[in-house]
Amino acid sequence: HRHLLGIEGLSQADITTLLDLADQYAAQNRGPNKHGQALAGLTQVNMFFENSTRTQASFEIAGMRLGADVMNMSMQASSIKKGETLIDTAMTLNAMHPDLLVVRHPHSGAVNLLASKVNCAVLNAGDGRHEHPTQALLDALTIRRRKGRLHRLTVAICGDIAHSRVARSNILLLGRMENRVRLIGPPTLIPTGMSELGVEVTDNMREGLKGVDVVMMLRLQKERMDGGFIPSTREYYHRFGLDAEKLACANPDAIVMHPGPMNRGVEIDGTIADDINVSVIQEQVEMGVAVRMAAMDLLARNLREKASVEV
Ligand code: CP
Repeated sequence: HRHLLGIEGLSQADITTLLDLADQYAAQNRGPNKHGQALAGLTQVNMFFENSTRTQASFEIAGMRLGADVMNMSMQASSIKKGETLIDTAMTLNAMHPDLLVVRHPHSGAVNLLASKVNCAVLNAGDGRHEHPTQALLDALTIRRRKGRLHRLTVAICGDIAHSRVARSNILLLGRMENRVRLIGPPTLIPTGMSELGVEVTDNMREGLKGVDVVMMLRLQKERMDGGFIPSTREYYHRFGLDAEKLACANPDAIVMHPGPMNRGVEIDGTIADDINVSVIQEQVEMGVAVRMAAMDLLARNLREKASVEV
């Protein structure tokens, strides 16, 4: 693959190859020597047009650990503020010969468009409601490590599905790896036609969590609700917030996940998020670095192969 734009274009074998390499990086990241050379000589530019804590920090750390020259564009201070378009901005950077461009953008499809214009490898760090492929991959690696497999599991994705690129990428990945996916949330926050994707849908949290191995909680993405219905926090927590009583409906060894940023007391009880016996939220963050190292390593191998063929 030339780019990593979404889970949509990945096969079972692609996903397994990437996760196997990420597992190796995860082991290396826990040791005293975190340095590799897979990206030595390459330039990585991170362009985040939307706020980020985890994704931006982990892409930066991943690039540095693999020896890339890493530059974080400060989009707040860029000429986008003076009216320059996304494509003109991208072409300007393209002229400086980056090898890897990591892009987050509020509009679905913006990253694919940008990838069609530049010469380097593009990694989608989240575009609108469309896809967040490295998040789904780090979730998959966390599940595989905790459950010992990434197939024939039942995974509940709970909350604001409609506005979530994380949900979309996870539905695609978990389906591709032959898992059962159940979406739980208010009907107003679940898009119609989801059952066509082979997933189950319910608005009853206690029913929906029965027999579930993995409980994935999502934040209400109020910034994408543009004038639409926003549930009250109290009502939402009562019906859809994950507390001990609702979690007891899932399998006894179920794990709890959240991509972050989380809103304690809205979609999840803080004591569950902090309970190391069930919550794998910190491991998700840890796997984020390993997965991004693996993704950039594989794209760099492709870049080097292409360059050697062209020479
Ligand atoms: N999970 C995730 O994408 O978090 P950030 O928005 O902090 O990057």
